[in-house]
Amino acid sequence: EQIKKGSYDHFMQKEIHEQPHSLTTTMRGRLKDSGVVLGGLKEHLKTLRRSRRVIFIGCGTSYNAALAARPFVEELTGIPVTMEVASDLLDRQGPIYREDTAVFVSQSGETADTLLALEYALEKGALCVGVTNTVGSTLSRKTHCGIHINAGCEIGVASTKAYTSQIVVMAMIALAIGSDQLSTQPRRESIITGLSSLPSHVSEVLKLDAEMKELASSLIDSESLLVFGRGYNYATALEGALKVKEVALMHSEGMLAGEMKHGPLALVDENLPIIVIATRDSCFSKQKSVIQQLLSRKGRLIIMCSEGDISAVGPSASCRVIQVPEVADCLQPVINIIPLQLLAYHLTVLRGFDVDQPRNLAKSVTTQ
Ligand code: G6P
Repeated sequence: EQIKKGSYDHFMQKEIHEQPHSLTTTMRGRLKDSGVVLGGLKEHLKTLRRSRRVIFIGCGTSYNAALAARPFVEELTGIPVTMEVASDLLDRQGPIYREDTAVFVSQSGETADTLLALEYALEKGALCVGVTNTVGSTLSRKTHCGIHINAGCEIGVASTKAYTSQIVVMAMIALAIGSDQLSTQPRRESIITGLSSLPSHVSEVLKLDAEMKELASSLIDSESLLVFGRGYNYATALEGALKVKEVALMHSEGMLAGEMKHGPLALVDENLPIIVIATRDSCFSKQKSVIQQLLSRKGRLIIMCSEGDISAVGPSASCRVIQVPEVADCLQPVINIIPLQLLAYHLTVLRGFDVDQPRNLAKSVTTQ
């Protein structure tokens, strides 16, 4: 059933819309009121807690999912997290130690660079953890332990439902590692509550489909699209831009809003569309000031904000606004990426490109 399109025109469209279900299966049996139960990690939890550093390693969308997880993994575990694009780690032969935990994130579990980085980390004696969608994959066989994301088979070359399930699995991993810390218990409880209501909020945000189609038609002839995010949603900016470039074949860059003044601001004019992610979290007031600075340079803005927050973000009449449901701040990236997935999908269809098999790309890159 999973490998049929059903009533959808494309696999990517189907996979975007099945996220309330895929997230439910990701969490099934793992989420309890008292905490999370992750059988795949049980025996290594003590070693994980003692690690000096967590290194997230992946490519493409899987790397972006790990980046989305970084802030809450640091917060809930107190362990420093560093990020590695697999090919770059190999190019640099970056240092990895026995006291490190290396977490490999890969939908297919077969990406060549990620697997080579795994060999490298195993040689260095790090504890190697896999986060993958593919039972029996090389990644799941060769890591010391790990968690399957159980998102169901993903066919579209552009990863969508695997991304949100990867973030949720990493949230559960962070909750499991941090579960011995009394001081963060209320925070953990609120994240667990947030996780259980996430699928229904995802169903809600999917109702933006028609609005995103309309937005896509207004961007169809743009040459480029910037996406500004920060904090929990820096990854959302990178992943949203990646979706647009890989399927809609439009130049798009995700940018750290904190770096705006160090270059990107020079690009701003009346024509270049810029999506600014300004949902509620501790970076909200900084994002409001970014919006003001972009508006004062006549930027063409599309603002993503929390529902009912239009007046608080203070856009001018010329801005477009995407309102999304507000969830626990660290889970907001799961919600915020969905309108951008829909936007990339509709842009691709309207521009007449192949949605499920984008030019020059492969679902799984098994050669270096
Ligand atoms: C390819 C795919 C992407 C994917 C990346 C990593 O580039 O087109 O959608 O994110 O590989 O794949 P993985 O299976 O390791 O997550």
